[in-house]
Amino acid sequence: MLLAGKKVVVVGGSSGIGLATAELAKREGADVIIASRNADRLNAVAEKSGVKAIPADVTSDESVASLFRACGQIDHVVVTAAQLRTGPFKTVAMEDVRATMEGKFWGAWRVARSADIRPGGSLTLVSGFLSIRPRPNSAIVGAANGAIESLARSLALELAPVRVNAVSPGIIDTPIRAAMPEEARRDMLAKTAAGLPVGRVGVGEDIARQILAFMTIGFATGSIVYIDGGALIA
Ligand SMILES: NC(=O)c1ccc[n+]([C@@H]2O[C@H](COP(=O)([O-])OP(=O)(O)OC[C@H]3O[C@@H](n4cnc5c(N)ncnc54)[C@H](OP(=O)(O)O)[C@@H]3O)[C@@H](O)[C@H]2O)c1
Repeated sequence: MLLAGKKVVVVGGSSGIGLATAELAKREGADVIIASRNADRLNAVAEKSGVKAIPADVTSDESVASLFRACGQIDHVVVTAAQLRTGPFKTVAMEDVRATMEGKFWGAWRVARSADIRPGGSLTLVSGFLSIRPRPNSAIVGAANGAIESLARSLALELAPVRVNAVSPGIIDTPIRAAMPEEARRDMLAKTAAGLPVGRVGVGEDIARQILAFMTIGFATGSIVYIDGGALIA
């Protein structure tokens, strides 16, 4: 087992990519803690997956500081927490775009500041393909993703010997699109799958496996890896 005796914290671990990462780390022998806002959902998921749960909100300095006080020293930290609000650039509400940065970018920043990661351990941030393959109506998400990738490179220098990397997913079928009408969601995923060289959209474990690679390859730092089914070349 690749993570026997290691402590792993997944912030955003109650759903999607974070949950897949927590479950994979657990299968690889790690002592896993998941954190997110909705305590009921978090506790239910933690019980089912056999991991520990600590409620936390990455938009709050104090909440993140208190999470990492409770965790003590950690081997590997992963940040998947995000709630994205976007829209047409000229009309999207400023409070929506600020909220997107507050969770996705400043959330990752707060975690990086508060987490006590052992030398040689790792911090993995999650960006997204919109940073380099932009789409209309998503400027704030592309900008947040670009900022995350830049932050990962900066921190790889400043936090060394802790290693810092980022994974940039393409379209992954997770509950992140739960608010979309089901038929529209399925249609979008099917159309995306048909346009990709791999012929399918991603699942959480596709990204979790890359995160596991970042945790376990001691030579990996400052890397940004795009796992997108070939979206960037299609
Ligand atoms: N799925 C995709 O197609 C895709 C593509 C590119 C990039 N990404 C990126 O991948 C990451 C994970 O996405 P996902 O698809 O796994 O999303 P998801 O299934 O919606 O999971 C998001 C997780 O983050 C938590 N969370 C949200 N806001 C939080 C906050 N303020 N504080 C603490 N926890 C918070 C959620 O729980 P609570 O709501 O209970 O807090 C949940 O556990 C995100 O950064 C997303 O932008 C996803």
